[in-house]
Amino acid sequence: MDHFLYRDGVLHAEDVSIPEIAAQVGTPFYVYSAATLKRHISLFNEALEWADHLVCFAVKSNSNLAVLKLLGDLGAGMDVVSGGEFHRAIAAGVPGERIVFSGVGKTKDEMRLALGHNIRQFNLESEPEYRALSEVASEMGVEAPVAVRVNPDVDAKTHAKISTGKSENKFGIPIARAREVYAEIAKLPGLKVVGIDVHIGSQLTELEPFRLAYQKVAELTEALREDGHDITRLDLGGGLGIPYERSNDAPPLPIEYGQMVRETVGHLGCEIEIEPGRLVSGNAGLMVSSVIYVKEGEGRDFLIVDAAMNDLVRPAMYEAHHDIIPVIEAEPGVEQRGYDIVGPICETGDTFAKERNMAPLKSDDLIAFRSAGAYGAVMASEYNSRPLIPEVLVSGEQFSVIRARPTYEEMLGRDTIPEWM
Ligand code: LLP
Repeated sequence: MDHFLYRDGVLHAEDVSIPEIAAQVGTPFYVYSAATLKRHISLFNEALEWADHLVCFAVKSNSNLAVLKLLGDLGAGMDVVSGGEFHRAIAAGVPGERIVFSGVGKTKDEMRLALGHNIRQFNLESEPEYRALSEVASEMGVEAPVAVRVNPDVDAKTHAKISTGKSENKFGIPIARAREVYAEIAKLPGLKVVGIDVHIGSQLTELEPFRLAYQKVAELTEALREDGHDITRLDLGGGLGIPYERSNDAPPLPIEYGQMVRETVGHLGCEIEIEPGRLVSGNAGLMVSSVIYVKEGEGRDFLIVDAAMNDLVRPAMYEAHHDIIPVIEAEPGVEQRGYDIVGPICETGDTFAKERNMAPLKSDDLIAFRSAGAYGAVMASEYNSRPLIPEVLVSGEQFSVIRARPTYEEMLGRDTIPEWM
């Protein structure tokens, strides 16, 4: 459920009408609903109520400071994968004790930064990485709390580009080698084992792959405990999918996921950490755009809109589907047309949808891309020198611009022409 509904035929974000925001900030823009973000965090908290747990929001899915602050104020932790994300989490008021650091390529500078803020946990992914962390922590005279990300060799049955738990992927340490690796870590100075980490992929629409992976983690927990390691936490990653197409079957709900977690690892008495991104932020956001032109092509009409692949890259990059709806609801019974919905960028890949049926639209009409709150703004670029589009946060009747559209002067001001030219 989200909070983007029609009222008297006009699409609203909570109690604010989308045309009102468009009039103030101009199109295109992203708009997020505070109530939806809050609701999604509470769904996970309810699903894991049976355990001591921490929901660590995957910052990569939406890293706007206001979004992070809103979630952090609800008690959420953060899962970060770079120094930049770490700085954002701290700036949003989330203490290091609630931040976990994931990713295959943490640099020593990033390790120092995180250790300086009493980070909750590093999720380690390779031997050279834990050796580097051991050196950095020893130099600083601290102990780094660590979990090893294990690769359970499970097929997540999702898009190949976002599947991470197969043995051929670059992520984690093969689960078969885990005991050996934990034994080695235990001997290194500056590292303190606290748990096990696993993440098998994103946009999973079934529970089975999770179940298989978590069963393997449960077995490993027992084996590692026998070896004398103090495994008190399990970080089970993110990845639960969202319904991108209202017309399709919905993926499992957080409550069902929580039940499966209980069945697979509940008996171990560990603190449970999860790292959801998309499920928290995805359906809490829309991207709003206006139609520039309707162009009649051969056998099809093109809807040329003012948003493009640089603003929302998922369709071009993963052939992802986003529902696209008119901001002013069509009159009932109006005959629909099939449109190819495209942006102004000079590439054929700048196509959001093909043969999408919609009630007839004309120049200046507003449309909204659903499920755009995750991996939307964060993946945007300035390709074709298009300014990054603003982000707006709505809560009840109020809304604020939480990232402004840069001016052309600001964009150009970042480049320097050398004096010798
Ligand atoms: N934890 C780790 C270690 C991850 O790598 C990811 C996502 C997550 C958590 C969060 O997964 P989520 O709950 O959001 O599925 N750009 C792609 C998605 C890439 C996901 C990468 N890792 C997309 O637009 O579909």
